[in-house]
Amino acid sequence: MQRAIRSEDTRVFPRFLDLPYPNIERGDGVWLTTTDGRRFLDACSGGAMVACLGHGVLEVITAAAEQAEAISYFYNHHFTSEPQERLADRLLEVAAPEMARIRFVSGGSEANETALQLARLYHVERGETDRWRVISPAQAYHGSTMGTLALSGRRTLQEPYTPYLAEHLHIDPSTWRFDPSGETALRQLDALLDEAGPGTIAAFFCEPVSAAALPAYSPPEAFWHGLDERRKDHGFLICFDEVVTGMGRVGTWLAAHQIPIEPDIVAIGKGLGAGYAPIGGVFCTQGVYDAIDRGSREFDLGHTWDGAPVSSAVGLAVVDLLVERGLVEHVRERGPELRDELEAALEGSEIVREVRGRGFLLGVELVDPRDGESFLPVELEAASLVDDTALEHGLLVTSTHPQANGFAGDQTLLAPAYASSDEELAAMVDRFAATIEDVERTIKDLLSRPA
Ligand SMILES: Cc1ncc(COP(=O)(O)O)c(C=O)c1O
Repeated sequence: MQRAIRSEDTRVFPRFLDLPYPNIERGDGVWLTTTDGRRFLDACSGGAMVACLGHGVLEVITAAAEQAEAISYFYNHHFTSEPQERLADRLLEVAAPEMARIRFVSGGSEANETALQLARLYHVERGETDRWRVISPAQAYHGSTMGTLALSGRRTLQEPYTPYLAEHLHIDPSTWRFDPSGETALRQLDALLDEAGPGTIAAFFCEPVSAAALPAYSPPEAFWHGLDERRKDHGFLICFDEVVTGMGRVGTWLAAHQIPIEPDIVAIGKGLGAGYAPIGGVFCTQGVYDAIDRGSREFDLGHTWDGAPVSSAVGLAVVDLLVERGLVEHVRERGPELRDELEAALEGSEIVREVRGRGFLLGVELVDPRDGESFLPVELEAASLVDDTALEHGLLVTSTHPQANGFAGDQTLLAPAYASSDEELAAMVDRFAATIEDVERTIKDLLSRPA
């Protein structure tokens, strides 16, 4: 049996043609097993911060199977279903009582794309047709569709698709490196509002707590207060991309619940289906809904799988389990300790500058050991080195490469399942510390070689 599948061995069009892909056969809790019997400890909920309950959860599988038996598919253009209705009710009761409505979609990009369309429609319905532009922090990822790709300010991600992307406006991230107080970001926001004309801005779009782009980072409080004031003054909407942070990942149902500002629109995704079905959603406030309710009464664009019965049944089972098992509260209580344990395990590492954490979303920022501050040279490809070395240690983590915009260096994201046991979390921390030790040795060796 092959250890890993290379592009020349398959008819699948892989993401990276030079990367051999381990062939996963089974998942059980936080363990992944390949066809050739290797086991990986999954510290990233399937790699994309999705499988928040872990793999192989019978209650969710049964809910999907029972729904498929009753009816697997119909189009929500024509019909609705009990699972879709109940999921909407349940989410608005437990996850986002401050919101009024939810539109279901099939994933994170679709959720953000829908959020963007809804923000635009809100203004058009109210007669403010000039409002289309979005201001967003540059160091972000909102999806791979053309609409959502345009929202990021990461040129490296966008190329070569830039000709298709609308020109939105960006501010720098308020990290300790660039803008610890958040004041520069507010000044940039004012300048952009001024330049573009506040009447052209439809929304401010951001991840309240960043995922892969700046793991577990959130702007300082002063920034949120300043943003709120500007919303009041200039009438744009605030859209939160909670595709990763929603559904309890940071210890509250939404990250918005930890931030001193109330968004108008919130996109969720990953944890809602927990890896058992592709489903995302877009919440909006009563005010946003009212604009359409009193206007054209149509928000028609959608996708074939929006609110499909099996996906909705899965979402419902996921919410039920999160509630029954108190997993969101568990993440809130256990998260800070987990961050401290990770930091303690990495203490002394000369390539680790910062360990950030919010609930079960953790980020480790790597730096050049020669000064403990600069980003590592891009050509070292430290992010790939970390991920590959982690796999050798039987651990799945997800790292991000530096971007040409210079806002972030190599960083690793850990996002374990909320249901991980203490022993499993300890093993993840140990394996990651061992990974970083190896990577540090390799990096120092590479840096000591003559240029
Ligand atoms: C913050 C954020 N937004 C949006 C997306 C896009 O979600 P999807 O890949 O489900 O389309 C992702 C995916 O990683 C994400 O991390």
